[in-house]
Amino acid sequence: MVRIPLEVFRYAPGNASSRYDRFELEAEEHTPILTLLLKVRDEIDPSLAVRYSCRQAICGSCAVRINGKSRLACRTPVGPELARRSKVVIDPMANQPVLRDLVVDQKPFWDRYHAIRPHLIPDPAHPLPEGRESPMTPEQVSQFKETPRCIACASCYSACPAVGSDEAFLGPMALAKLYRFAVDPRDGGLRSRLEQVQNQSLWLCLRCNLCVEACPKDVRPGERIVDLKRMANQTLGEREAGSRHAIRFSSNLQASGLLNERRLAMDSLGMGGVIRQLPKAITMMRHGRSLRAPSPIAGLSEVQAIYRALDRPEDLMHRERPPSGEIKGPRAPTLAPHAPKAEPEAAAAGGGKP
Ligand code: SF4
Ligand code: SF4
Ligand code: FES
Repeated sequence: MVRIPLEVFRYAPGNASSRYDRFELEAEEHTPILTLLLKVRDEIDPSLAVRYSCRQAICGSCAVRINGKSRLACRTPVGPELARRSKVVIDPMANQPVLRDLVVDQKPFWDRYHAIRPHLIPDPAHPLPEGRESPMTPEQVSQFKETPRCIACASCYSACPAVGSDEAFLGPMALAKLYRFAVDPRDGGLRSRLEQVQNQSLWLCLRCNLCVEACPKDVRPGERIVDLKRMANQTLGEREAGSRHAIRFSSNLQASGLLNERRLAMDSLGMGGVIRQLPKAITMMRHGRSLRAPSPIAGLSEVQAIYRALDRPEDLMHRERPPSGEIKGPRAPTLAPHAPKAEPEAAAAGGGKP
């Protein structure tokens, strides 16, 4: 048994300020944090509000921040947390308003989930068979990658800095779910789904991978966002600043081995955008940053070789449809390639990282 200093965030509606309550408990190192919180609630302070249900990492309802990291309380043992910080500090999840103590209002999280239309969108050209299943081949199912494992715990949403900084960002879980439908060959909404997120959400992701680190089910939402960016570039092309930035970044860097920032700004934003960025450019130059075109570096061919290797990702557009509109099972894979319909380009603006 070890002694555990536990600090728990407390807030009650109507109170202007929040506080931390400190408790001293004894437990084995393998004891889950949720067990400690329930011990506090059952034996010390029955007013502590904490959300949970399954206690087996299935329902996703017990997520809190443990020593600053968004985690499932029911599957996080106390020992490693004590070793990390010599005490255990529990906060409610971030990016959602606190209702009471450790319970947050998950409406912002679920609003974003519903915004991506988390259901199959009928494809009039390929109607699903009525009254029967629409089986998929194992290869088609494998395109979902780890996304079906998601338990909607919102740990990734809580960990994501982009969610906190921009309301337009749909967040890692919603985008991972969108990916799941984007690669589903029975779905008819690929293009409109990508259009929905290309202008804003995709390019607001900072690629920090904190969502990947936080996810208790290894769904890897940040990696699916990268896949969506690639799909959007393949399907919609360079229709807005984020896509242009990503596509031109590669060729820009391969020209000399160093980034030609002036060229990249022009390619991504156009003349109007560059003019709007002039104050920033002047500030950068005042601080010694050169915006001149760089000279080719020694070893440029090695940089180009790396990019050639990176430019051969798996084909995410491997979406197959049968000519009849019926999705055939693994034993009858007479499938024809699916090509997204061409649609007029729309003007769009935005910015972000590749
Ligand atoms: S990688 Fe993107 S989605 Fe994931 S936490 Fe970072 S900013 Fe958020
Ligand atoms: S992607 Fe992972 S962290 Fe995010 S809601 Fe789903 S299970 Fe939770
Ligand atoms: S209580 Fe269900 S996931 Fe923790």
